Amino acid sequence: MTSPFEFSFVRSVKQSGGTAVVFKLSDNDVVSGAETVDPGDSFARAMRIAKFKAKKLSKLDIIAPSGSPTDRVIIIGLGKAAEIIAHDWLKLGGVAAAAIDGADKVTIYLDVPGGIINAKIAADFALGMLLRGYRFDKYKSIKDEGEETGSAGKPAKITIVTSGSVLAKRQFENSLAVANGVNLARDLVNEPPNVLGPSEFAAKAKELEALGVEVEILTEREMRRLGMGALLGVAQGSVRPPRLVIMQWKGGKPKDKPHAFIGKGVVFDTGGISIKPAAGMEDMKGDMGGAAAVTGLMHVLAARKAKINAIGIIGLVENMPDGNAQRPGDIVTSMSGQTIEIINTDAEGRLVLCDALWYCNERFKPVFMINLATLTGAIGVALGSYHAGLFTNDDTLAANLLISGINANERLWRMPLGRDYDKMIDSRFADMKNTGGSRQGGAITAAQFLKRFVGNTPWAHLDIASTAMGAPNDEINTSWATGYGVRLLDELVRTYYEN
Ligand code: BES
Ligand code: MN
Ligand code: ZN
Repeated sequence: MTSPFEFSFVRSVKQSGGTAVVFKLSDNDVVSGAETVDPGDSFARAMRIAKFKAKKLSKLDIIAPSGSPTDRVIIIGLGKAAEIIAHDWLKLGGVAAAAIDGADKVTIYLDVPGGIINAKIAADFALGMLLRGYRFDKYKSIKDEGEETGSAGKPAKITIVTSGSVLAKRQFENSLAVANGVNLARDLVNEPPNVLGPSEFAAKAKELEALGVEVEILTEREMRRLGMGALLGVAQGSVRPPRLVIMQWKGGKPKDKPHAFIGKGVVFDTGGISIKPAAGMEDMKGDMGGAAAVTGLMHVLAARKAKINAIGIIGLVENMPDGNAQRPGDIVTSMSGQTIEIINTDAEGRLVLCDALWYCNERFKPVFMINLATLTGAIGVALGSYHAGLFTNDDTLAANLLISGINANERLWRMPLGRDYDKMIDSRFADMKNTGGSRQGGAITAAQFLKRFVGNTPWAHLDIASTAMGAPNDEINTSWATGYGVRLLDELVRTYYEN
């Protein structure tokens, strides 16, 4: 990941040429940086002529007034002072990144008169810029004209002017860790499925060793020995062998129990013998979005040296139709010993996760297990793309996740679990079947299936099928892969579980 921006943080600057970004509240007349870039007091006139009201996330792009030491000014609206929430600063960074449009030298006057000034704001603003600046164009011979990068492919030099520059610079290290983690997750999801198979994904995870993460990669033979018949049943139709990757970040005290994150990593989901329709099947390259989020999160935790012991486990397989593929009617034995009748080979994610969850619980006895998975189309029918589905057996974990989701603006909506839904996956021939038998409550029956593999450990399942990819663009994301989950879980760890 090469960043399109190069940041520096200073208390004051001698502006000469370039683009200035300044801010205005809708309920305060003063514009930040005006004493430097608006010597003739021309901004008021410009805003009046353009009918610019400084509504939140609005912008006005003007040629610098004569006498100004800068060439171009972008005024960004903040709305009313009392209505700014923490997450707005990421969005404002995104708006600025889009607005500077190819400029290679940019000065950002962040100290808003009448507004709150702190280091976290500057760091969040820069994070928003980095997230908005993400591009996935490595396979395009002719790159899109980079709206958010400097000219000639060189990173734009961004100078953020703020009285808290020393602290801001230190906070920015966290922003960089988060941006790189989110953008890593996006890269993994955007990568085409011929390039990123299970072993290639595992090799990417292995690169986290450079940050101090311990990474183990289990091969098919080792998984066979462990009895992971559910995961292996999915993998058997592919010529590309599966991998189980175990990542450990030991930033806490040695005796602290670890916190575990488990991801579905189906590098491509054809549906198998229960094959999917052709239209839109290309999107199933993103069926490893859960594994990508877990990998991105481990990157963030290690890069910012989080004071926590964290485990990341990802099950990497490809779901293909083949002479050796598993059939509807097959019965497989999971690592837990529980048997599963395969009704639909397209309900493969739960089969991968059940062995990964069981393995995680047995080996690590974690404080909690949070799994992320692009598990069901049904969750999109229920919630659309603006909330991921949250299923959990623990009310404290639910509360912590829901609040973190609001603060990170990666929102969750809690869905029900219960005996009646659980009964829907009882099987005539085995301990359970891998679908509920009808489409009714499809996201819930999938969650009930996972629940049978977590024992009494506090557990949450996030169904991210309609948030990890293909979600509508916003201020901080214009990519198909969103990186959903990385900021949410980093927020969760930072707020509730780090010591
Ligand atoms: N990977 C899909 C779910 C999915 C659908 C993710 C659309 C992203 C976008 C999953 O493996 C799947 O095929 N689920 C089936 C389950 C059904 C067969 C019980 C589904 O949702 O239709
Ligand atoms: Mn499927
Ligand atoms: Zn799938």
